[in-house]
Amino acid sequence: MKNPVQQSALDQTPGKKVSHALDTQVDYLAQSYRDRAGTYDLDVGRQGYHGPIIVSELAAAFQTAYLAKERAVITILDAGCGTGLVGRQLKRLGFQLIDGFDLFEEMAEKARQTRIYRDVRGDVDLNGPLSDYSNASYDITVCCGVFAQRHVRPGGLRELVRVTRPNGFIIASTRKSYAEATCFDGEVRRLQDAGVLIAAHCLGDARYYQGNAHYWVFQMPDKASAPTEERL
Ligand SMILES: C[S@@+](CC[C@H](N)C(=O)[O-])C[C@H]1O[C@@H](n2cnc3c(N)ncnc32)[C@H](O)[C@@H]1O
Repeated sequence: MKNPVQQSALDQTPGKKVSHALDTQVDYLAQSYRDRAGTYDLDVGRQGYHGPIIVSELAAAFQTAYLAKERAVITILDAGCGTGLVGRQLKRLGFQLIDGFDLFEEMAEKARQTRIYRDVRGDVDLNGPLSDYSNASYDITVCCGVFAQRHVRPGGLRELVRVTRPNGFIIASTRKSYAEATCFDGEVRRLQDAGVLIAAHCLGDARYYQGNAHYWVFQMPDKASAPTEERL
C-alpha cells in the first residue's frame, strides 16, 4: 500500500485529491511540492520515475541529430525544474549550460544545491508570462512532469516556444490522462497552424511514473520560415 507521501510526490491523477481541505490549485501544489521538497527525490525514486531520463535522452538525441553546436555549449532551460532531477541527467549526458525555474522557491533551492545549474529561479509561474526570460534565448527547453493536472495549462507551451531559439527544440512530457482531459494536442495543432512550432516527434504511451505519458518533441521553425510579425 502507498503511504500519503508517496501518493503526493508527483502530480496526481484526478480523484486522488490529497485533502478535502485544499481548495485551490496552489494549495494543492504547495502540499505536493513546497512542503515535500526535502523528500521529493527519495519519494519518486522509490517508485521508478522515468521522466527525467527519457526527456534528457531525447534532448541528447535531437541535439546530436540536428543541432550544429557542440553539446557543451548548448543552452538549456529546465522549466519546472523541481529539485533538479532532469539537470542531473542532462549533466550526465554532457550538457553544461542549464538554467532552471520552478513555481516553488523550496524546490528551486534544492536544484540550486545540486550545483549543476548555471541559474535557478523560484517563484516563476509557467501559467503566466516568463517575464525574466528573453525571446529565443535557449537552444533546448525541457519540461518534465509540469504539464499535469492542476499544474500548468496547455497554453504554457506558448511561453516555452517564445524563449526557444529558431531551429531549437522543446521536449515536454504530458501524462496521457492530462493530454486527453485538456486537449493538449489541440493546442499543439493551433501553434503548428500558426507556424510557430513543428511537432517533430512524439514517444506515445511510454513509461513515466505510476502510469504512462507522452513525450513530445517540438522544433522551432528557422527564422526564414517563421511568421514575419511577432511569433506569438
Ligand atoms: C512532477 S514535478 C517535476 C519536477 C522536475 N521537472 C522533475 O521531473 O523531477 C512538477 C514540478 O512543477 C512545478 N510546477 C507546478 N506548477 C508550476 C507552474 N505553474 N509553473 C512552474 N512550475 C510549476 C512544481 O513545483 C514541481 O516542482
